[in-house]
Amino acid sequence: WVLTVTAQTPTNIAVIKYWGKGDEDLILPINDSISVTLDPDHLCTTTSVAVSPAFTHDRMWLNGKEVSLSGGRFQNCLREVRSCANDVEDEKEGVLKSLKGLGDLHVHMCPTIDFPTAAGLASSAAGLACLVFSLAKLMNVKEDHSRLSAIARQGSGSACRSLYGGFVNGSFLKEENGSDSIAVQLADEKHWDDLVIIIAVVSSRQKETSSTSGMRETVETSMLLQHRAKEVVPERIIQMEEAIKNRDFPAFARLTCADSNQFHAVCLDTLPPIFYMNDTSHRIISCVEKWNCSEGTPQVAYTFDAGPKCRINFTQTEKLLPNFFKGCSFHFPPNSDTDLNSYVIGDQT
Ligand code: DP6
Repeated sequence: WVLTVTAQTPTNIAVIKYWGKGDEDLILPINDSISVTLDPDHLCTTTSVAVSPAFTHDRMWLNGKEVSLSGGRFQNCLREVRSCANDVEDEKEGVLKSLKGLGDLHVHMCPTIDFPTAAGLASSAAGLACLVFSLAKLMNVKEDHSRLSAIARQGSGSACRSLYGGFVNGSFLKEENGSDSIAVQLADEKHWDDLVIIIAVVSSRQKETSSTSGMRETVETSMLLQHRAKEVVPERIIQMEEAIKNRDFPAFARLTCADSNQFHAVCLDTLPPIFYMNDTSHRIISCVEKWNCSEGTPQVAYTFDAGPKCRINFTQTEKLLPNFFKGCSFHFPPNSDTDLNSYVIGDQT
């Protein structure tokens, strides 16, 4: 027999960023973060997983190509989900599959990510969240989303937030084993439904410094990081939660842009400095800042993760979107005159 499950998980965009781990093995971030989960129609990962007594070892095919499972992260997630496995009743055959503890049973995993990986588009967030979620379904895990988010966090710090829709806090608390470092939903996907997110893929090339090694170097060398984690982020988290609760776009935009800029300042404060943005990213920042300045109050926000691509947030899209791109001198949709060479538009949910 073989049991299979397929699941889909969207990616998320951090508006208050996580950068730096206190414990690398458990992936315990040094500060809380807040993110918005995208509509599952955009930048989504689909994962099929299967378990069968015929499988001789655990295997994974990423986008159809077999990859090694030697990395600790996959193994950690798999071990944790396995430890919560329960027996499964097969609907068709009515046969009870004994999965408890999984014994000698092995799994095959096939994640498909239909957008560039390692380009700063949070593919690991969607990928690891989807893997944990589909394995948990396959193994009839009864634990709730918060426990699954703690498991996904051990795959990738940002993955814990993709288990929920809407606005999510990746809370990193006190337990040394990370059991209370989980994601918490602040508001669901209907809470702010006129908030729109544009993803501008400035470059789909793989980034030179991965998030994992970049944040390790920052933790080792940046003094600014300590100031950010202890003095700046805790206050910003409170302010951002308030802005989201009140759907206060000007406050949301100010905090989002400020936090993106400080995250990149921390990267520059790393030895050797890490540059995730390029000239086009800088031009987008100038456009948004000029636009907001001319309007007198923020109407657009930008945020850049560990790569040059940009997430631009709007409300009142129909009015603003075409004008904003005209004002930027980017074409909308973009054409060959610009290196802003592709884009995705998605409502947040
Ligand atoms: C800049 O979650 O990709 O996107 O935990 O090492 O897998 P690992 O890193 P990852 O880092 C995300 C960093 C960020 C900010 C964020 O998403 O909060």
